[in-house]
Amino acid sequence: MKNNGLEDVIAAETRLSDVDGEAGRLVIRGVSLDLLVSHATFEDVAVLLLDGMLEQPLSATDLKTRLGEARAEVFSHVVSADEALLNLPPVDAMRALIARLPDGEDLETALRLLAAPAVFLPAVLRLQKGETPVAPKPSLSQSADILAMLSGSLPTREQVAALDAYLVTISDHGLNASTFASRVVASTKAGLTSSVLAAISALKGPLHGGAPGPVLDMLDAVGTQENAKAWLADALDRGERLMGFGHRIYRVRDPRADALKHALEPLVATGQVDLDRIRLAEAVEQAALAILRERKPDRPLDVNVEFYTALLLDALKFPREAFTGVFAIGRTVGWIAHAREQALEGRLIRPRSVYVGPLPQAA
Ligand code: COA
Repeated sequence: MKNNGLEDVIAAETRLSDVDGEAGRLVIRGVSLDLLVSHATFEDVAVLLLDGMLEQPLSATDLKTRLGEARAEVFSHVVSADEALLNLPPVDAMRALIARLPDGEDLETALRLLAAPAVFLPAVLRLQKGETPVAPKPSLSQSADILAMLSGSLPTREQVAALDAYLVTISDHGLNASTFASRVVASTKAGLTSSVLAAISALKGPLHGGAPGPVLDMLDAVGTQENAKAWLADALDRGERLMGFGHRIYRVRDPRADALKHALEPLVATGQVDLDRIRLAEAVEQAALAILRERKPDRPLDVNVEFYTALLLDALKFPREAFTGVFAIGRTVGWIAHAREQALEGRLIRPRSVYVGPLPQAA
């Protein structure tokens, strides 16, 4: 029991998502990811996850309108980003801005929290480059508006579809560390803003949401397709792990990796990516799978979500230091749904510890 990561402990009952590591399947509210990602937008998956969790029902159209209004409202907080805040890494600056928002349990709070990371991250990135933040356009979809706020111009249809696919793919994933943090805070009835802040704090750690940046670092270090095999062999000889491969739960291919690989295809087909980077990534993936099979024959190690996250977010022109923040934009809806489920159906989460310290001296 002691020092373990609670992997054998069931800490919640949920109707939100199921991760089947043996079958390589992710189910979100009864729908398998491969089906969901082929037709759902961010707004659709938000309606799906929040269904029955808030006091009033929401259609995808209502959500789109109200989320647009919420983006416009939270944008007014961007002016409070001072120099100290802008010196922080993007995810920390985004979290600091979210901490200024009021707490609550209602639909207004939920919408504000869905809007906040989507508005604050692009604004922080622009301010950090000395550029003026771009105001949201409430009539756009969440994905289109994020890209417009990032670049200052309207995105293409393929770019919007790719970001929607990413946000849908990572919207929820069982009781991962940040989702558990969100539920622990919700169990005290602290409010949704507090839950989301706790979850972002858990997410930013390198063992959770901090991995995709290093995938790009690895591709940069490999440099050329011809160098892939030798570079990967050297890395393994040095005892390093190959970034974007392996998973604690999936014993087969991570279904999210394939969802993102497919989401990249229209961008590749229309020349909206750095093709050299994609070809290099393909060569690295093939070489890595081969060498991992050879070196770890007893442990199935396949590509994971972070490998294709890195390629997709890079193709959409997010800088690598912002990848964790983009993850938060997508996962906030899962955190909110879990926080509400916990508040509605759960009890105060209060486990016990075993005291192994010194005992008081007998008098
Ligand atoms: N590269 C090389 N070897 C790896 C590996 C990788 N990416 N992932 C796992 N292994 C090896 C381990 O070293 C271990 O070998 P050993 O028994 O000889 O020591 C064996 O495979 C079993 O590891 P496993 O129990 O499956 O991994 P884990 O649950 O401890 O770790 C990760 C899971 C995700 C932390 C791990 O796979 C990893 O570090 N991957 C790289 C980072 C990454 O992509 N993170 C994003 C995850 S979504």
